[in-house]
Amino acid sequence: MKRLILLCCTAALLAGCSKTDPHSPSAIRQTIFKDMLRTSETLGGMVRGRSSYDPAAFQSGALKLKTLASAPWTHFPEFDASGPSHASAGQFNAAARKLEAATTELAARTGPAATMADIRPRFAAVEESCAACHRQFRPE
Ligand code: HEC
Repeated sequence: MKRLILLCCTAALLAGCSKTDPHSPSAIRQTIFKDMLRTSETLGGMVRGRSSYDPAAFQSGALKLKTLASAPWTHFPEFDASGPSHASAGQFNAAARKLEAATTELAARTGPAATMADIRPRFAAVEESCAACHRQFRPE
């Protein structure tokens, strides 16, 4: 753990001349959201037939997405229930829980026996929970 902290500090020093602090909540979120997008695009490619369906690869992507789905929220201090926008914190957190539930459902339906018919509606629910939160909370 100490070594990790040291490594992070070194990275921060090296990045010292860039404008954004890599440790800022928004920089951390950006990294997580980008990973989320990349992971869901890989899955979406298989769902839409742009790439061939590989049940094992789909499963590992779905499990990754499920892990990522709970990662951003602690880095949103502004939506802390005691924070400045506590009025919308409840809605924001509800949208976050929806994504977590949708990715959990999707991951549970994957595996060697899972067919596209199992996966398609659950993947659509995941995409809808991304979009629902973005409509309400993502700045233009
Ligand atoms: C609970 C709300 C919420 C959910 C659910 C959500 N997002 Fe976001 N997302 C945001 C907010 C707010 C931003 C604006 C950037 C920020 O504040 O960090 C954002 C920004 C992004 C960005 C831009 C990151 C950047 O700044 O470069 C991507 C990509 C993204 N989200 C992908 C996804 C994907 C993919 C999903 C679903 C798998 C998802 N998001 C689900 C709230 C959410």
